[in-house]
Amino acid sequence: MDKLPQGKAKAALVEDMFDRIAPRYDLVNRLMTFRLDVRWRRKTVQALSLPKGSKILDLACGTGDMCNDLLAAELSPIGVDFSQGMLGASRTIASLVRADVLCLPLAESSIDGVTCGFALRNFTDLDSFFQEISRVVKPAGRIALLDVAQPKSRILRTGHSLYFGKIVPLIGSALSDKSAYRYLPKPVSYLPPPGEMMQSLKNSGCRDAKRQLLSGGITQMITATRDF
Ligand SMILES: C[S@@+](CC[C@H](N)C(=O)[O-])C[C@H]1O[C@@H](n2cnc3c(N)ncnc32)[C@H](O)[C@@H]1O
Repeated sequence: MDKLPQGKAKAALVEDMFDRIAPRYDLVNRLMTFRLDVRWRRKTVQALSLPKGSKILDLACGTGDMCNDLLAAELSPIGVDFSQGMLGASRTIASLVRADVLCLPLAESSIDGVTCGFALRNFTDLDSFFQEISRVVKPAGRIALLDVAQPKSRILRTGHSLYFGKIVPLIGSALSDKSAYRYLPKPVSYLPPPGEMMQSLKNSGCRDAKRQLLSGGITQMITATRDF
């Protein structure tokens, strides 16, 4: 699977893919990132900088890893995902809701913060996603998003594309689903350029939007504050 379709067809394909890989999703994640994914999610939760007890939506929560980190930080998470398979394979005591993150079943300004791990490139429309976040997050609420990135250094970039282009699909096909793991680790090819993405976040009603590269630039963390 080299290129995804757009719109509803993409959403259906993504949902089906995650339903299929759900049982081994966590195992393959830990192996292919050498457990760095655990560290990145914790950093994302810290970046929220919200008081204990704050109500946080973890969007595209998958099997609930970020929800567990939010609980560990004494925050109050609700996970949202549209894949029944991923929700069914979850290992969290957080409340989970099956819904499309582009159409959240929540009132305006009802949430203190939002997290989202490794899902931005799966959405069919990032502008609508940022607008939906801004709709549900309270003024001065916090947003912390995590996704893959492409390292700036040419050497790192070559090693990175070799690893994710050749080795990860092998791990994925041995343990799970080859076509899914040819698509999943693809770095920025399914994301708009960083500048465009940050502008779209600001346009949705957020300020202090920052993008931080992690682990040599293989991952990016985007943070922002909901404007008044
Ligand atoms: C790569 S997984 C990430 C899971 C988890 N956040 C993590 O950090 O491991 C992407 C998740 O996004 C979900 N997803 C993709 N598009 C979605 C949408 N429009 N609405 C809800 N969930 C969506 C998929 O079902 C999948 O569970």
